[in-house]
Parts: sequence; structure tokens; C-alpha cells
Amino acid sequence: MTAFPNLFSPLTIRGATLRNRIVFGSHTANMAENGLPGERHLGYYRERAIGGAGMIVVEPVPVHETALLTRGNFRPGSDEVIPHFRKITEAVKAEGAVICNQLYHVGQHGDFDNSFQPNWSPSGLPSFHDSDGSHQMSEAEIETAIESFVQAARRARDAGFQGVELFAAYNALIDQFWTPFNNRRDDRWGGSLENRCRFAAEIASRIRKMAGEDFIIGLAINLHPEIDASLSIEATQEVLAWFDSRALFDYVTCGTGSYFDFTGIIPSVFFADKLGAPYAEALKAVCKHMKVQAESHIRTPENAEYVISSGQADTVSIVRGQIADPHLANKAREGRPEDIRPCLSCNQMCWGRRFRDYWISCLINPSAGREFEWGGDRFTPAAKPKKVLVVGGGPAGLEAARVAAERGHRVTLAEASDKLGGQFRLAGLQPRRHQIIDYLDWQERQLNKLQVEVRLNTPMDADEVTAFGADVVIMATGSQPTGDGFQRALPHHDRLPGIENGNVFSAEEVMARQVRPGKRVLLLDEGGNWKGAGTALYLAEAGHQVTIVTPLGMVAKEVERTSADIPIRKRLKALGATFHTDAAVKEWRGNAAVITDFASPDVEVEADTLVIAATNKADDWLARELDGSGLETIEVGDSVAARTAVMAIYEARKKAMEI
Ligand SMILES: Cc1cc2nc3c(=O)[nH]c(=O)nc-3n(C[C@H](O)[C@H](O)[C@H](O)COP(=O)(O)O)c2cc1C
Ligand code: SF4
Repeated sequence: MTAFPNLFSPLTIRGATLRNRIVFGSHTANMAENGLPGERHLGYYRERAIGGAGMIVVEPVPVHETALLTRGNFRPGSDEVIPHFRKITEAVKAEGAVICNQLYHVGQHGDFDNSFQPNWSPSGLPSFHDSDGSHQMSEAEIETAIESFVQAARRARDAGFQGVELFAAYNALIDQFWTPFNNRRDDRWGGSLENRCRFAAEIASRIRKMAGEDFIIGLAINLHPEIDASLSIEATQEVLAWFDSRALFDYVTCGTGSYFDFTGIIPSVFFADKLGAPYAEALKAVCKHMKVQAESHIRTPENAEYVISSGQADTVSIVRGQIADPHLANKAREGRPEDIRPCLSCNQMCWGRRFRDYWISCLINPSAGREFEWGGDRFTPAAKPKKVLVVGGGPAGLEAARVAAERGHRVTLAEASDKLGGQFRLAGLQPRRHQIIDYLDWQERQLNKLQVEVRLNTPMDADEVTAFGADVVIMATGSQPTGDGFQRALPHHDRLPGIENGNVFSAEEVMARQVRPGKRVLLLDEGGNWKGAGTALYLAEAGHQVTIVTPLGMVAKEVERTSADIPIRKRLKALGATFHTDAAVKEWRGNAAVITDFASPDVEVEADTLVIAATNKADDWLARELDGSGLETIEVGDSVAARTAVMAIYEARKKAMEI
């Protein structure tokens, strides 16, 4: 008997039966090479099917050359993709999941750098991607676009997909046609509801005719009622009811946010759980034929069970939850949800990589995208179990200990402080970031289950490490703030002039509450990432008057890739923080700083405390001392070079798989 009875009840849509209600919803994994799905895609989707997902909707195929958006998109308009896709559909079906394919055309919001084509749209409005203008489609071009969708669906069917999902979300071409803001036409494609829906209706009815009665035709939409240019809930219900009464689509999935304001599409830590569930519920009220799917920040099986059991939706899409743990569904079904590696809603390596047009991965699950090389998110037992000592219990040490133990090694983890997590725990103490603590708790649970001996309050020097007598020593001793106030914008100064005047703390000291900053804080943010911005937020929320100085063009610049930067800046501004961008601290006087932006006259800002968030230096003394000792040693994480948790966890996983 499962703890999630509604979630694990099957559901039949057309010719396919989903074994449960958990869908791995469509998202651009961006892994195509030369426009073709390859080994990386195959491993990625197959792993989620092995992990128990009920249905997988493979990322969008751009239906036409004007629809191409990313470097890793599939080749549009070519039958060459068919045999490559067939390998994926066969593998996924063999593992018991239903497989569909999203088809898209983003209309006016395309990317010329990838398509080398003008963007097409109903009425020639500009792109919100880069403000390029778009081309108003002629009758003939509308016909071309419709036929492109139908041909893409034919390819999908021939490749073994059990259905297609038409992308009409976030203000893409299909919903641009039915949205009055975008569609200002006065021909048979604009004006009345029927005219505005004609484009989608033509595509769906021609696909049905081509593909037959068993083929699933889904619809991906979004709701973003806070934006006037977007459809209201009532107007969206009207559109959906129109389609539903004609039985044109078999299911509808409803996302959040839109290209008008990107931040809600892939909700960061600033957004609530189950964000899309109320929208699904509103659609269910008008859909008699279509199944309704809730998406966006559903995250956990507990949330998913609630959504299904309360009747808000028939299925749930859990995207990042299954990127972070491809075996989420099976672990929930087996009654061990506590073993699910919990997604952080950080967007760092999923959207954060797609944003920069790389293939996606995951901060806490570096096997994502590497399943074909690493054998999935699973481990092969070591040929010869060894005695392994891990020194340091930060993100690298934890992952290395876990993976080594998963492979059958006898592992001891020695941590100098009284808690596991290192600087990642400090990150988890920043506002909104408590999911990091949940992840550290997960690591601790896994180490317990794997019988790793964890020794807290255990700093180890070279003699102690040698005396321990391990076969392999993994050094994960982390990094430390430099304490010198070096700034990239002033590279000719090794130290910040005046740093000896005191009242200068590191972001780490502040977050560890080892120091008491004064009321007025000047925060020098060298990196533009969460370390600086999150510490500023922490101080501002605690009532400090915060001024941020950064050499970058905007505060939280490096967080932009995760779409959390705008909420951070909004919150900081609401708390009265002030920003100096493209700037540097020229001198610290102990109670004031001289700030330069290199263009206008210097300004003096009074402050009781200077907090510095900058690149750390590697804490590699142990590695140096053990160098030449004859011990088999492996270095991972910040003690190799100070970076982010991304590299720490990746390196730890990779190297522990090689022991
Ligand atoms: C890297 C990435 C790319 C995405 N690309 C698409 C896409 O191409 N089509 C789509 O309908 N949704 C896309 N999404 C949105 C997801 O389908 C989903 O709505 C979103 O991730 C929120 O759900 P979650 O909280 O379960 O991750 C993408 C999401 C991510 C993380
Ligand atoms: S990178 Fe972050 S948000 Fe994306 S799946 Fe992994 S943990 Fe979740």
C-alpha cells in the first residue's frame, strides 16, 4: 500500500495508460548535437523512465526554421531526426513510461543568433527576448506554420512518440494568435474568439486526421494574470472551453509566468510551492473532455498527492524535482520519500545553463546530462572495497563520502566543526534558502543509512591522517576568505587601502554569526552571486542599513541566469538598500569608505562595518603536507580552487566514482 494512493493510480489518455500521475514535463535540455538527439538525450530521458515517471514529454522540436531558439535545439523540418528519436522512444517505453514530444514555435520571441531568420508573429510586435522586431505573417506563411506543426507531429509519430504537446505557453506563436495583445489582425485569423483560436484548431484537427484516434494531442499553456497584456483567468477559461467543447486536445498543462516577466516560469526560491495548482483547478472547472495537468513548483510527492487528491488536477508535472532526483517516482512509490534528493529551486545548473545556451545539468545531481557516461544516477560496486577517509564535511566531502560508501567502500568522514555542510550551510542560512539545509539533511540521512562513520569536531593534521591508515584519503578541506579586500576593478592593489582600520568582516563571518556588524553596513560584492546578494539580504532583513558596492553593472549579476536576481533586487530596494554599480571601494577609513565609479567624482559613504564577499583562497595546507607522503590522496572542491558548490559536488562525485 503506497502512501500516495492517488498519485500512483493509473490514467488512460487515448491509446496510452500512464502508470502513475507523475509527468516529467517538457523542458529544453538543450542537448542536441548538430540538431540531432544523441546519447546524452537518451541517457537523460531513459533514467527518468527507469526512475518511475508515468509520462515523459520530450523537449520541444522547433517546427520551422523560424522557430529555432537554442544551440541545442533539434533540427527543424527534417526527417533525419526520426531514427535518432526512435532510440529514445523505444528505451523510454521499454522502461514503462509513456512518451510524447512537445512541438514549438516561439513566434515573435525567437533568437536570430541561432535561427538566422526573422521572427514570425501574428502582428509584427517586438521580441521580449532581445527587442528585435518581428515579421507579420502572411496567409501563406500561416499555412506554412500550420503544416510545419503537422509534419513535426508526423515525424514524432513515426519516431514512436505516443503523442505531441503543442506549445502555446508564455506567449509563443500559438497563444500569440489567441491573445488580443499580440493579435491585432482583422482577417480570419484575428478578432473574434473563433478567429483567434483558428490557428491552434487547424493544427490540432489536421494532426488528428494525420495521426489517428490513438495519438495523444496535448496543449501546453500558461497563466500570468498579473500582467494586463496576458489573458486573465476568465479569458483563458473561455479559450480552453472553446477547445474542450470541440475535443481538439486530450490534455492541457498550465505553467506560470511568461515572457512578459520571466521570473515566474521556473520559480526560484522567491515563489511558493504548488504555484500552478490553483490555475489547473480553474481550468478543470471548464474542461469536460481534456485531462488537466498542474505544473510549476509542485516539487514533492506530498505536494503532488495533495494536488491530485484534492481534484485540482489529473496529473502533475515535476520537472526540476526529477532532474535533481530521476528516481523520485519510485522512491515515493516504495514509501521512502525521505530518500529523494530534494531540488533546491536554485536554477543554477538547469535553467542557469540553458540560459547561457549549454546543455542542462543539476547542482546537486551532476549525473544529469551525463547519464550516458556515468551509468545513470546509480553506482557500480567497487572492484575492491577500500578504507576511505574523507577530510572535510562541506558539499564536496559529503558527496564524496556518500558516493564512495554507495560503491561499497568503508568510509569515515572527519569534520573539524560541530556541523556538516561547510559554507553551503551558511548559504542555507540566507533568506529563502532553507532548501539547502534540507539537502544537507538528506546527505546526512544517506550517510547514516550507508553506515558512514561521521566524526564531528575532528580537525585532522597530516600526522593524524597518516596514523588513521586509510587506503585512500579524500581531501575536501574547503576554502577561506582572503581577508585582504582585493578587488578585480583595482588589480594594482594587493590589499584594499585602509583595510587595517578595522571593522571589516567577511560574508562568511557574518553568516556564521561570528561577528556583530554595525547598523550601517557597506557590502563590497566582488562576485555578484548569492554570497554577496544573499548576505546583503540577510543584513537588510535584520534591520541593517545596507549599501552595496559591486564592480558589475548590476547587483546580483551572476544570479541573473537563475532568474532570482530581479526578486533579490526588488526585495533589497524595498528594504531601503542602496546600490553603487560599476564601482569599487578606493579606501576604507574604519567608519566610512571612498567609492569610485571611475567616471564621476568619488563619493564618501559613512558606514560602521565593511562586509566583503569575494573569491576565497583554497584551504590546501593538508594537501601540501601530505604531498610526497606516499598516501593515495584525492583533492576535491574548494581546496583545489575556490569556486561554487557546483564544482565541489561535481568533482566529488566524479572522483569518488573512480576509487
Ligand atoms: C531548463 C528548463 C527549460 C525549460 N524549457 C521549457 C520548454 O521548452 N517548454 C516548456 O513548456 N517548459 C519549459 N520549462 C518549464 C517547465 O516545464 C516547468 O514549467 C518549470 O520548470 C516549473 O516546473 P518545476 O518546478 O516542476 O520545475 C523549462 C524548465 C527548465 C528548468
Ligand atoms: S540545479 Fe537547482 S533548481 Fe535545477 S534541478 Fe538542480 S537543484 Fe533543482
